Amino acid sequence: MFSFFVTVLVVIQVIATSGGQSVSDERNQQKACVSAGIPGVPGLPGVNGLPGRDGMKGEKGMNGENGLVGNAGRQGIKGDEGSKGIKGERGLVGDDGGKGNAGKIGPQGPQGIRGEQGTKGETGRKGEKGQAITLNWKQCVWNRVDVKDSGLIQNCNFRKHDNSSALHVAYAGTLGVYCGSQCCSRWYFTFNGNECSGPMTIEGILYGRPANDSPHRHRQIEGYCENIPAGQVTIGFNVGNCNKWTSTIYDGHTGYLSVSRIMIAEVPPSQK
Ligand SMILES: *[C@@H]1O[C@H](CO)[C@@H](O)[C@H](O)[C@H]1NC(C)=O
Repeated sequence: MFSFFVTVLVVIQVIATSGGQSVSDERNQQKACVSAGIPGVPGLPGVNGLPGRDGMKGEKGMNGENGLVGNAGRQGIKGDEGSKGIKGERGLVGDDGGKGNAGKIGPQGPQGIRGEQGTKGETGRKGEKGQAITLNWKQCVWNRVDVKDSGLIQNCNFRKHDNSSALHVAYAGTLGVYCGSQCCSRWYFTFNGNECSGPMTIEGILYGRPANDSPHRHRQIEGYCENIPAGQVTIGFNVGNCNKWTSTIYDGHTGYLSVSRIMIAEVPPSQK
């Protein structure tokens, strides 16, 4: 083993000598092999050296990565009102609006053109027998002056058709009364000799005084009598005293320079 190791060293030395290797390497190899003793105790650490001078400033490093997003800042103070902007361009035509409410009724239009004549209708059913609607009436006329102060002046006969109808009677002509100190005359109708009781008498009076008597004037006395039965009715126009005021007969005149007349008409029953 040892001989082999020496042999190797020799070979290496030959090679190193032939290749230009240093002589000291060869000696160290020989000393390690010959004089290796026990290691000594390690020495004490030396005193720290003085700090060296600052090195030169290095080159600028590469940019670091982006930092994390920071928290939102506080709301800023409200700014001043901006100036009025420029008028914008005309917008597009909008969609049609919804249906509006009904308008007010307009004024009445003019009358339309008369329509064409319609077609002839069918023949109607035969109607029921109706009542006669002809008016049953009569008048009696005369032209004279009656100085009679009490009693009948003129009769007029009338044929009444229904029980329930009424008679409308009227006198039209000149009436007057002459006075002493005072005067009053009454003219009234009778029906078959009796004054009307349905509902009351048909009459009129003239009252006067000497300074203000009741001279000849055209006057009219008329009324309805409702309870006269059907048949012949003698209607009389009469003159007399103003019975409830005085029984004295005064100087009454009936008719004067003009025609007098009694007019009679049968009329339907009064409404209830
Ligand atoms: C009128 O009444 C009487 C008595 O009730 C009656 O006899 C007569 O027939 C009636 N006349 C008419 C036209 O109704």
